[in-house]
Amino acid sequence: MPIKVCLAGATGWAGSALARGIARTADLTLVAAVSRAHAGRALGEVLGESRLDCPVYASATEALAHECDVFVEYTAPAVAKANILAALERGAHAVVGTSGLTTDDFEEIDSVARFQNRGVLAAGNFALTAVLLMKFAELAARFVPYWEIIDYAHDDKPDAPSGTVRELAARLSKVRTPEPTVPIDRTVGPRESRGATVSGSQVHSVRVPGYVISAEIVFGMPDQRLSIRHDSGTSAVPYVEGALLAIRKVSTLVGLHRGLDSVLDLGG
Ligand SMILES: NC(=O)c1ccc[n+]([C@@H]2O[C@H](COP(=O)([O-])OP(=O)(O)OC[C@H]3O[C@@H](n4cnc5c(N)ncnc54)[C@H](OP(=O)(O)O)[C@@H]3O)[C@@H](O)[C@H]2O)c1
Repeated sequence: MPIKVCLAGATGWAGSALARGIARTADLTLVAAVSRAHAGRALGEVLGESRLDCPVYASATEALAHECDVFVEYTAPAVAKANILAALERGAHAVVGTSGLTTDDFEEIDSVARFQNRGVLAAGNFALTAVLLMKFAELAARFVPYWEIIDYAHDDKPDAPSGTVRELAARLSKVRTPEPTVPIDRTVGPRESRGATVSGSQVHSVRVPGYVISAEIVFGMPDQRLSIRHDSGTSAVPYVEGALLAIRKVSTLVGLHRGLDSVLDLGG
């Protein structure tokens, strides 16, 4: 039996690429989609993809009236948490691509998922190269005690920092807490010039036209420096394979798991 998927944000930049990716599989089927602007239409008609015949609804609550195995959240920070909780309460597992969720949001999602005995896989970035950035940075943090993160994105990205950088900072906090030589609250000058403290890391968000999404982490120790940088391209294609893998594997999880490597064997 194919895995039944409900996709919130199916007409968006990331969601439409994923919907087309699902249409090409034999083991996944889209049963409902969410988009306010296209509610009442068939998704295939909106995307020009005849293999997608599922209905589009204005809200996740309406779409979740269709029974589904996995709910995929790819909309906007303002509605993401409520959508995920609604899906868990209806017995679906959830795959989360939307950025902007806080540590507190994730804690709440984790406790509801555990109560419902369901899995949630949230990835700030489903691209393989971004997963590698996280792994390489975790390794570097074991040996180099101080770093700061620069988060670059297009000027109209509403949330900051990006989901990629939030996830990166959360993961590094499990390795160690970097300690700046001059404590941040003793900065001479505007405190904001030292960035935001996110899960213990200093993060500097740049929102300038011309960027897609990039993340750079700079590790330093006396007389040496290491930079690790990830740059997204302009299409959403790199996220599709990772999200498909997450949909296929999320039912093997219970509770919240962050990062695609929760279900990806990277060896080592
Ligand atoms: N994890 C990853 O790898 C990854 C990759 C790319 C993007 N993202 C994140 O995914 C999210 C979506 O990005 P995007 O670039 O695809 O955005 P987008 O192009 O603006 O698409 C958003 C989609 O969600 C729908 N939507 C937005 N607000 C809604 C609401 N209140 N209720 C119902 N539907 C709503 C939109 O349709 P309507 O406007 O018609 O409602 C549209 O289908 C962002 O948070 C982004 O940072 C994550």
